[in-house]
Amino acid sequence: MSVIKKTLFDSEDIRSFSIRIAESFDEDANAVVLCDDVISACGKMKDEMFQLIVSSPPYNIGKSYEKQVGFEQYLDWQSQVAAELVRLLTPRGSLVWQVGNFVDNGEVFPLDMYFYPIYKKLGLQLRNRIVWHFDHGLHASKRFSGRYETSK
Ligand SMILES: C[S@@+](CC[C@H](N)C(=O)[O-])C[C@H]1O[C@@H](n2cnc3c(N)ncnc32)[C@H](O)[C@@H]1O
Repeated sequence: MSVIKKTLFDSEDIRSFSIRIAESFDEDANAVVLCDDVISACGKMKDEMFQLIVSSPPYNIGKSYEKQVGFEQYLDWQSQVAAELVRLLTPRGSLVWQVGNFVDNGEVFPLDMYFYPIYKKLGLQLRNRIVWHFDHGLHASKRFSGRYETSK
């Protein structure tokens, strides 16, 4: 387990503290950092382990960290991820799911619209829809430029 020593404030009055970071689950660690495929990593975790899960999955838009597949195949894969995340949540736990748009040949597919029924079917209730508006990004030439993403 690696240990990072941190000082909370630049004041001698306040003691420095250590953060213990583990690479596998360890009850003595403050944090666990895993580098693994999401389905494989979730498969190693017990039911109802987390009160809060925050996730920003790939959007299937051909970024360097993902393999682009057909939209239906992408949704099938993400449905498996969703089922795993709901299994890992406590009954009163919360999931924050951050997504943007999948775009195919100029057609926009707002991912939160597709994920809403998936999570609803798994028993989650929508509490908030947070819209992140930003000014940067690629300029579209045949539609308004995409300048938002959502979290649910
Ligand atoms: C939309 S990005 C999220 C970026 C993140 N919100 C951030 O600010 O860095 C999607 C992330 O999912 C990761 N990812 C892609 N396929 C994955 C897989 N099969 N298992 C686990 N993570 C994966 C990518 O490496 C990437 O960091």
